[in-house]
Amino acid sequence: MDFDTKTYKDLWKEGQSKLTPPNREALYNTSEKSTFAYISARDRWPVILTGAIDDLFRTLNDVTDEEKKGEGKHIVEQLAALKYELQHDRKLTLLPEDGESDIAGYNQELEARGPLNWFNAPWLYAECYLYRRVNTLFTLTNHWKTYDIFARQKMSTFKSSRPAVLELAAKYKELSRELEQGTSSQGKTPEEVEEAEKLLFMEMCEICLWGNATDLSLLTSLTYEDIQKLQGAEARKAAEANIVVNELPAAFDVLKEARKSKKNQERRVDIVLDNAGFELFVDLILAGYLLSANLATTVVLHPKSIPWFVSDVLPIDFMDLISAISDPQAFFTAPDDKNDPKANGTPPEPLTHKEIDELQFLFRQWSKFHEDGKLILRPNRFWTAGGSFWRLPHEAPALYEDLKESELVLFKGDLNYRKLTGDAHWDPTTPFTTAIGPLGRPDSGVRILAFRTCKADVVVGLPAGEDKRLRQTENGGGDSGSRKWAWSGKWAVVSFSDGKA
Ligand code: F6P
Ligand code: MG
Repeated sequence: MDFDTKTYKDLWKEGQSKLTPPNREALYNTSEKSTFAYISARDRWPVILTGAIDDLFRTLNDVTDEEKKGEGKHIVEQLAALKYELQHDRKLTLLPEDGESDIAGYNQELEARGPLNWFNAPWLYAECYLYRRVNTLFTLTNHWKTYDIFARQKMSTFKSSRPAVLELAAKYKELSRELEQGTSSQGKTPEEVEEAEKLLFMEMCEICLWGNATDLSLLTSLTYEDIQKLQGAEARKAAEANIVVNELPAAFDVLKEARKSKKNQERRVDIVLDNAGFELFVDLILAGYLLSANLATTVVLHPKSIPWFVSDVLPIDFMDLISAISDPQAFFTAPDDKNDPKANGTPPEPLTHKEIDELQFLFRQWSKFHEDGKLILRPNRFWTAGGSFWRLPHEAPALYEDLKESELVLFKGDLNYRKLTGDAHWDPTTPFTTAIGPLGRPDSGVRILAFRTCKADVVVGLPAGEDKRLRQTENGGGDSGSRKWAWSGKWAVVSFSDGKA
């Protein structure tokens, strides 16, 4: 497929025909009552806009500069107008130019798709459009250009992840010492060493995977207690059976082979990040482990460039997390914001010396990796475009070439999975490599590992009969025609595609 000679209109038509499996018509659409697309558009988006308005009000309380205050109030009005537009199923309007190159892509696609109403639009496009539209309200001001309406939530959720953060920091320090001293391989045959290494790799990846269950856009249905339960070691063990596709062993094999065949060369692993806070923390745990175990020599992290899907990582969130663990006592024992709904007035227990030491160990290691150029942050506007990753070779050829340099590209989270698979009505037994289009070809040059706890309908790569079985589980959807099991983050898929085969 020659992407470069295509217009958006052609691309879209072609995407439709290629993405549509036999017997089904379309991409997931906000009009489909039996899907999560319908629920998210009607129930979640208005709540997210209300949250944005509340956040801005709180910030405005402390703003004294008159011009800034005026601009802030105007943004609040526009957010309220957008919420009205959405809830009254108005048409999506063209985005105003704000000087960024992605606006043209959004608008060309909107025109190519014809008039779209909020409650009758491809879910993926409309949801991306929503966050980009909100962003223009800020970029078009003088004082609020980089303001993040979700920043407060991101940091307060990280703070409430304290038990799991401490547990992982302790485990990680011990592990690092073992890796450094080689104690874990003493008295073992090479086969036993390899098997142990594979198990450790799987465990580190599973920690990283379940970190994705704690996504802020789902907080309307998960309590903080639920989140904390999801994060502990016992919960992870129990959840292993919930990984319904698990292709981690194939990913381990490629990293192990690369370590053998490219001894003194660079071996890069990329992580297309998803959420900030606890999820970023576990992503960094995995990155640190890959570097320490010499399964990679460099890890490139791909954050977003604008506030995105509530909790996604911005470069500043990375800095904030590093700064939080540089002085963990100050961060974890700071009094809760009195306006925070989950603040209960009880001052947090101070951290012990051991806990501080374990977190600062992480801080030193990650800072050192960052300074040495082994842990790199590389934003790209492509990650916040309105379309699927089928378009990567055409829309972002330089990024595509860059990803080819990597041994393995990890895509974290649900939205990345939706974008990989085009958010289409695939039959659930469709091979992952088919559903991800051009990137799934054996000669695409990009090796992909998708880590995703399921929070949306699209799912591929399941054995025959598995979708039916899962629908029969508790709250799985039963015979309702809805794939409810795939909405809650309880189940996960880890899918691999070898584009360097
Ligand atoms: O709004 C709901 C939702 O869009 C999911 O269905 C979606 O994909 C998710 O938010 C974001 O999840 P994640 O942070 O794992 O990408
Ligand atoms: Mg996210």
